[in-house]
Amino acid sequence: MTKKITFLGIETSCDETAASVIRENDKGTADVLSNIVSSQISEHKKFGGVVPELAARAHIENIEYIIKAALGECKVSLNEIDGIAATAGPGLIVCLTVGLNIGKSIAAFTNKPFVAVNHLEGHALSPGIENNIQFPYLLLLISGGHSQFLIVKDVNEYEQLGTTIDDALGEAFDKTAKMLDLGYPGGPSVEKASKLGDKNFFTLPEPIINKAGCNLSFAGLKTAVLRESKKINGNDKLKFNLAASFQNTINKILYKKTKIAVEMFKKKINTPNINLVVAGGVAANISIRENLKKLSREIGFKTVYPDLKFCGDNAAMIAWAGIKRFKKNLLNKIDVEAKSRWALDENAPYMKGPGLKL
Ligand SMILES: Nc1ncnc2c1ncn2[C@@H]1O[C@H](COP(=O)(O)OP(=O)(O)OP(=O)(O)O)[C@@H](O)[C@H]1O
Ligand SMILES: [Mg+2]
Repeated sequence: MTKKITFLGIETSCDETAASVIRENDKGTADVLSNIVSSQISEHKKFGGVVPELAARAHIENIEYIIKAALGECKVSLNEIDGIAATAGPGLIVCLTVGLNIGKSIAAFTNKPFVAVNHLEGHALSPGIENNIQFPYLLLLISGGHSQFLIVKDVNEYEQLGTTIDDALGEAFDKTAKMLDLGYPGGPSVEKASKLGDKNFFTLPEPIINKAGCNLSFAGLKTAVLRESKKINGNDKLKFNLAASFQNTINKILYKKTKIAVEMFKKKINTPNINLVVAGGVAANISIRENLKKLSREIGFKTVYPDLKFCGDNAAMIAWAGIKRFKKNLLNKIDVEAKSRWALDENAPYMKGPGLKL
């Protein structure tokens, strides 16, 4: 029997302080032995968004306790761990440094292998924690800072098919929640409010819907929500109608762009079994899941969603990416530094800024 690899994962790229211990199992997936996430929502709520210095200070205060809790909960000692993985980017440098430094220190102190994980690779591989999913697959990564279609060819091998040219989808949800005074964090509150409204009440734009392949754009939609929100004047019915119309417009955009992405995937990858993985914080949105499931039945592919606890930021996905990289000998030296920007496909064109030709 081959030894099953066990990793400690650490995540501090934004406003969640998280640590997790996971072990590979015979099914090609992982046993999550502990998965501790300490959210700073209450600290950032009054500012309506993440304040980097506050987040970094909270990580420093919490990280030691969270790591001890993750190891303590499953009664696994550092001796039994085969390696340590910590998020090294992309994200807020002041936050990333906290988890990365403590991860490197533990690795140095215990003389264990260290893996510096790209947070986006954590999201990209997250469905593998519970599903033995084969490469290559199509990934729709929708989170607070990113919105991309990628081909996941293997661990560390990504090809970007499309990306947002302005805002990330999570950002569009968060800003919509702010404009409608629905509270922070925005995604879940917009989703909840949208169930109470008429999705066809407002006609909102679907930016670049008929051009630019499977690239995405949400800035114009956000501006339209701002314009319509000025007409609400405290009328809850109108507010719910606007939330529902926003959610419906997002569904229409993702439906059309995913259809294009599937066609692009088919042209590049010769396989009868197409898997679409939807990952990242926004993948928790049930309406988006159902909408893409409908498309999958219509044009014949399979959708794979990570469990809700692995959609938002968590350290189990970082530990899992750590195990996958460790098995390919993709280890890092202890002098590896945090990166605020870190694309999965480093050859993909930069798609933001003035003068963008679509
Ligand atoms: N049910 C939901 N519907 C829509 N959006 C959601 C839902 N739940 C969470 N979100 C959104 O997901 C985002 C957080 O996702 P995540 O934690 O992956 O982002 P991040 O780590 O800040 O960004 P990135 O992963 O790009 O670095 C937030 O914008 C939040 O509003
Ligand atoms: Mg994230």
